[in-house]
Amino acid sequence: MDSPFIDACRRRDPEYTPVWFMRQAGRYLPSYRKIRGTKSVMEIAKNPELSSKVAVDAARALGTDAAIIFADIMLPLEGLGVKFTIIENVGPVVRNTIRSRDDVDSLSSFDAEVHVPFVLEAIDATITKLDGSIPLIGFSGAPFTLAGYMIEGQPSRELTKTKSFMYENEKAWHSLMGKLTAMVRDYLIAQIRHGVQAVQLFDSWVGVLSPSDYSRYVSQYTRAIFESLPQNVPKIHFCADSGNLIEQFHAAGPDVLSVDWRVPIDAVWDRCREGVAVQGNLDPSLAAVGGNAMVRGVRQVLKGARGHRGHIFSLGHGVLRETEPANLRRIVKMVHQTRRS
Ligand code: CP3
Repeated sequence: MDSPFIDACRRRDPEYTPVWFMRQAGRYLPSYRKIRGTKSVMEIAKNPELSSKVAVDAARALGTDAAIIFADIMLPLEGLGVKFTIIENVGPVVRNTIRSRDDVDSLSSFDAEVHVPFVLEAIDATITKLDGSIPLIGFSGAPFTLAGYMIEGQPSRELTKTKSFMYENEKAWHSLMGKLTAMVRDYLIAQIRHGVQAVQLFDSWVGVLSPSDYSRYVSQYTRAIFESLPQNVPKIHFCADSGNLIEQFHAAGPDVLSVDWRVPIDAVWDRCREGVAVQGNLDPSLAAVGGNAMVRGVRQVLKGARGHRGHIFSLGHGVLRETEPANLRRIVKMVHQTRRS
């Protein structure tokens, strides 16, 4: 497959800058809302026919250069015995939170073929539907972000309970991170076996950590995951609000760093001595606002990327619900029409 997205991940200069959006299949899209109807995110994700349709429809509606499998970062945790519900406008809420070493010890071990066969079938179905037109991105939540939901029990801004568990039960913390690392590896390797052409690791909330805590409690797990994946599949590391950790993310070994709008995009190449591809980083609010502010924002990101190899245009975080799909189509057009040199 000739793909500007894969070329950019590899820092080969594609003809034009590729673009895709996190949460491109979501409630802002009328075709998604129609399928969602009364079904939950989890019900769609567990139905390969529907989840493949949702993923492909979104990519086609927008004209993006990649599709992403429709799933949720929480999904594989069911295999470990985590009980949760995804509540609309809130996020994942876990019933059996992790409070002690015993809770960590009682987690089951994970086998993708046994616990999430529907994700793998959805990958097969999505690849068939895409028919070689664009690559499919697989993904997983990263151990820290998953541990955050398991310990807090609900979305949290400060992750204070998580930090307290990490500092006060250091052995149990490392055991939990070890189990999650094994799960993420198995999950991503199964996705790759089923044909995803790139993988993204979502460590959405790890930006709450200081550089020294990141290096003591998290970085070894991220590195172990990336090292265990085959070389020929590009690996993307995503985190929001984490300008303080860019060099450390880079050292963990991804091919692409996905950064948000709080950092100037050119600074990422500078800080990593051009040794990485960069994905991002328009403020999702600008995609929702549209008009001149959005156009100026897109131009600014493209200008920041000029002269650097390996740019994948994206938003700094997921598409907001109030976004007009036409705004995203306009972004795709602008990015594709802009000359790289
Ligand atoms: O096109 C895609 O990217 C869709 C696939 C996808 C979903 N979740 C489906 C979903 C992906 C890549 C995710 C990742 C995910 N899920 C992350 C990492 C990315 C990030 O945003 O940082 C996180 C933290 C979650 C956990 C989660 N699931 C949250 C915070 C929410 C939002 C709750 C809400 O209603 O606002 C969800 C629900 C969810 N997962 C939606 C989608 C499309 C919302 C739409 C719906 O309810 O139908």
